Amino acid sequence: MKKRLSILLVLVMIFSLVLTGCGGNEPKKQDEVGDTGKDAGDNGEVISEGLQGILDKGKLVMGTSADYPPFEFHAMIDGKDQIVGLDLEIANHIAEELGVELEIKDMDFDNLLGGLTSGMLDIVIAGMNPDPDRLEEVNFTDIYYEANLSVLIRKTDKDNLKTLEDLEGKGIGVQIGTTQEKIAQEDIKDSKVKSLSKNPDIVMNLKTEKIDCAIMETPVAESFAKVNDDLMVVENLIIDNKSGGVAIAVQKGNDELTEKLNEILSDLVSKGLIDKWLIEADELSSQGL
Ligand code: ARG
Repeated sequence: MKKRLSILLVLVMIFSLVLTGCGGNEPKKQDEVGDTGKDAGDNGEVISEGLQGILDKGKLVMGTSADYPPFEFHAMIDGKDQIVGLDLEIANHIAEELGVELEIKDMDFDNLLGGLTSGMLDIVIAGMNPDPDRLEEVNFTDIYYEANLSVLIRKTDKDNLKTLEDLEGKGIGVQIGTTQEKIAQEDIKDSKVKSLSKNPDIVMNLKTEKIDCAIMETPVAESFAKVNDDLMVVENLIIDNKSGGVAIAVQKGNDELTEKLNEILSDLVSKGLIDKWLIEADELSSQGL
């Protein structure tokens, strides 16, 4: 009798699980965006609903990958670990313009677009190129900063690694899910690509001779070279990222928000604030990464 009761109980449990699993419009589950669930705040229920949704909830949720100085990085300010950089200045300004609070979610770069499509994030500002593949998944604003890619090497390789051909067959460090990963895999012959989640790890691999070079946006490569005496950026070698620069990503079809952001960005560009903030962020990052 006892046994039968517990079988019944199990059946009821399974049935109710099946029922809830079939619910049509409950919030997307956190684990759909990989390991970012832990960053989803409360219980990951934040669902992005365009410009009006952001205004209604009084909060703008921004996703970034804070490992990319001077765009976004961690810094100790007043004894506190904070995420700072050009993209944070931009995000703060956008939140101010919209009259809402800013919430930052620091995630792995390759989880950012998933966070956006699942509705966990309202915007992604992460030095991201609006490349054609991504444009199929999300909206992008206009480009707010024009930059291409550079190659970071050890100073001791100064005479060996000067051109793109010199990188053929070499160990190349790139961040997972980035434009540079694709370029290293597809455009550089016989490359041994090492893809890692965080750029400081790539730099560490370069310093300890586990790879021969790293590819990243020019200002980022320069930023890392500035604080690592043993590293340098290959001179006169610019790799085209094929997008011309970086932009903010927004959920697909969220045109009203995209337009609003374009207005705000063009105002920032014309006031010279983007360049000013980048220089300030660069100074801050060279004070100790
Ligand atoms: N611009 C490159 C891309 O869009 C790399 C961006 C990496 N950004 C970051 N915050 N780690 O793929």
